[in-house]
Amino acid sequence: MDNLDKIVEEACQAFAAVTQAADLEQAKTRYLGKSGILTAQMKLLGGLPAADRPAAGSRINQARDAISHALESRRQSLRAEALALQLAAEALDVGLPGRGIATGGLHPVTLARERIEALFASIGFSVAEGPEIETDFYNFTALNIPQDHPARAMHDTFYVDEQHLLRTHTSPVQIHYLEDHPPPLRIIAPGRVYRVDSDATHSPMFHQIEGLWVDETISFAHLKGIVQTFLQQFFERDDLTVRFRPSFFPFTEPSAEMDMSWGDGWLEIGGCGMVHPAVLKHVNIDSEQYQGFAFGMGLERLAMLRYGVTDLRAFFAGDLRFLKQFN
Ligand code: DAH
Repeated sequence: MDNLDKIVEEACQAFAAVTQAADLEQAKTRYLGKSGILTAQMKLLGGLPAADRPAAGSRINQARDAISHALESRRQSLRAEALALQLAAEALDVGLPGRGIATGGLHPVTLARERIEALFASIGFSVAEGPEIETDFYNFTALNIPQDHPARAMHDTFYVDEQHLLRTHTSPVQIHYLEDHPPPLRIIAPGRVYRVDSDATHSPMFHQIEGLWVDETISFAHLKGIVQTFLQQFFERDDLTVRFRPSFFPFTEPSAEMDMSWGDGWLEIGGCGMVHPAVLKHVNIDSEQYQGFAFGMGLERLAMLRYGVTDLRAFFAGDLRFLKQFN
């Protein structure tokens, strides 16, 4: 018989040398398998004198136990190494700060518009819209501003081509709506408007909100009452009053400039008047039967006063430090 201690030592070295579980199983087969080294030793037992066999058999068994033991402990250490590798690869730094989900917010002009829409909806006004690229007819002619009328010069118009322009006010929505809806009707029409104008207090694009109420008995008194009540509610000030100053707009007669009380003084917030019969005629409404009022206000101005914004340009600069204050 070979030196069993040496066999055990070699087996231990072989086990220690492998780095993969599959290689370890191969090494096991080499020592403990059916045609392995220890089985070969067992087979030699038959050639020994009968008296020596028990002792020799028990030494082989001890060697087998020692190899099995070494095998099992190497198995465990390989498993532990594999686990450590896996854990290292899948490591998660729970101390890392999260990415967070940023929430957006509505633009203050949108907030003001939605507030105005809700207030007018509560007294039966619908919201109407019209195109931002208009024809000369809707922006001017149908509003009683014929070709060569000096009022066209009041609007510094962006022209797209000879027939099309960026609307200079929301008043053309009155025409679109009146064409499609027979009176009685009451609408507000908020939207973007454009003028060739840009300085600290003017932006080439800004927003207006148009109002229109047409029915058989609508009067100037309704106009003033509605505008004043609206402004009181918009600013949450019961003591706010409205002052009308005589003015001129081609599409209203009579016309007025609207001011509201603010601090010790007055602030201009828009124009208004009774819809001109010539406008109603353009949309085939009998001005003997129907009359109405209309008004137009600047949305940015209302938003600035409501939210305490002091520079108009802040609305259009896209500065998140400004916008986040409205989240
Ligand atoms: N469209 C006018 C402007 O942009 C404002 C305006 C005045 C609208 C009188 C009206 C109105 O509806 O009746 O300056």
